[in-house]
Amino acid sequence: MSNVAPSPMSARPGGPLTGTAHVPGDKSISHRALILGAMSVGRTRITGLLEGQDVLDTARAMRAMGARIERLNPGEWIVDGVGVGGFGEPEGVIDCGNSGTGVRLIMGAVATTPITVTFTGDASLSRRPMRRITDPLALFGAEIIAREGGLLPVTIRGAQDAVPVRYQTPVASAQIKSAVLLAGLNAPGQTVVIEAEPTRDHTERMLTGFGATITTEITPEGRVITLTGQPELLGQNVAVPRDPSSAAFPVAAALIVPGSEVRVPGISRNPTRDGLFVTLQEMGADLTWENPRDEGGEPVADLIVRHSTLHGVEVPAERAASMIDEFPILSVVAAMAQGKTVMNGVAELRVKESDRIDAMARGLRDNGVSVDETPDSMTVHGRGVIPGGGAPAATHLDHRIAMSFLVAGLAAQAPVRVDDGGAIATSFPDFVRLMRNLGADLGPDA
Ligand code: S3P
Repeated sequence: MSNVAPSPMSARPGGPLTGTAHVPGDKSISHRALILGAMSVGRTRITGLLEGQDVLDTARAMRAMGARIERLNPGEWIVDGVGVGGFGEPEGVIDCGNSGTGVRLIMGAVATTPITVTFTGDASLSRRPMRRITDPLALFGAEIIAREGGLLPVTIRGAQDAVPVRYQTPVASAQIKSAVLLAGLNAPGQTVVIEAEPTRDHTERMLTGFGATITTEITPEGRVITLTGQPELLGQNVAVPRDPSSAAFPVAAALIVPGSEVRVPGISRNPTRDGLFVTLQEMGADLTWENPRDEGGEPVADLIVRHSTLHGVEVPAERAASMIDEFPILSVVAAMAQGKTVMNGVAELRVKESDRIDAMARGLRDNGVSVDETPDSMTVHGRGVIPGGGAPAATHLDHRIAMSFLVAGLAAQAPVRVDDGGAIATSFPDFVRLMRNLGADLGPDA
C-alpha cells in the first residue's frame, strides 16, 4: 500500500445517521479461518469472510505454501488444506502488507515445519516489533534471521525436529499467544501458553472447532492454555461474525451525531472483545442488544445505538486488552463527552499500525480538542464539542486512525480532514459507502 498515491479524505457535519449498518466480517477470525483451513485435511468453507487487503494477503500467503483457496461468492470461500506440517516452501517472499496479525500468525504456523520462508510488509509493518514473536518461535527450534532491531524482513527456517514450548507472554497479546499455539500444532507433546491478562480467544475457540485438544485453566498466574501437538485438523464450516472493531465506527458516529439511531446486526459479542461497549455504557451510551445467539462457536447479537449525552470516565488498565483496537475511536467519543476520559495501560497502542496515542493526540489537538499523554495513558478533556477545521490529520498508513478522524468530522463544527484514507481498505473496504448510506457526508477529497 505504501507505493500507492495518498488519498486525502474529509468528513463534514450534517444531519442524523439512520438505518442499518452491515459491517464486514471479523478480521481476527477471518485470518484464523484461512490459516487453520490451510493447516487442515479436507475442505473448509468460510462464509462472511472479510475481504479486506489484510485478509487477502493472508489468503495469498496460504496459497503460496500449498493450500488451494477459491472465492465462490462475496464472503464465501473454500480452502483445501495441506494438513498440519504440510506447508510447502514458497517460491517468493511472503508479503503481508499492512497486517501484523497476518505476518505474526503465519510466522507461528511455519516455525515447526522444515521450510524456509521470508516475510516482508509495508512501511508501517516494517517498523513494528517482531522479536516478541521470533523469540518464542526460536524456543521450538526454528532459526530466525531478522533485520537490525528484530524488524522485517524476517526469514524463518522452520524446525526439523520441533520441541514443545511452555511460554509466558511478556505483554498482553493475542498475536503472540496465537503464534505460539500455531507453532505448537506441529510439535510433539504439549505446548503451553500462559497469559496474565486475557486476550481475544478466537484461536483457542477455532482450534477446538477444527478438532484440536486445547484447554484453558484460570490460575493465580493467569490463563494457562495447553495444546496437544500434532493433531489431525479436519476442514470445517466457519461462519465469520461481523467485526465489533469495525462496528465501533458507525456506533460511535451514531452516539455523537444528534438525532441518530442505527442498527448494527450480527456483531460478535465475544467477552474478550467487549471492552468498548462496556466503556460506552459507563459513559451513558444508549445501547440495546437484541437477539443474542451463537454463530460458529462465537456469541453474536444485534445492536441498536441512539445518540446520547455522554460523560467522561476512567477506563481501567485491566480492560485495555478487550478493546485494544478501539481506543482511537473512543478518544473521539470522549471529546464529544463532558469531562475527562482517562485511558490507562495503553502502551501497546504505540506499536500498532502507527503510534496511535501520538497520532490521535496530534490530530485531535489540531482540531481543537485538549489531550494529555504519558507513555502508557491518554487523557481526553471532553467539552461536548469538536471544533474541527484543522490541518489534515496524519494517518501513518493506519486504517483506524483514518476512520476515527472521519467519524469525528461528522459531529464537528467544521470539516475534519485526513491526509490519506487508503489504509481503510485493509479492514473495512466498504466504510465510505456504508457511512454514506446512513446519511454521513464523507469521502475522498475532489
Ligand atoms: C489481533 C490482536 C491484537 C489486535 C489486532 C488483532 C489478533 O494485537 O490489536 O488488531 O487478531 O490476534 P496484539 O496481539 O498485538 O495485541
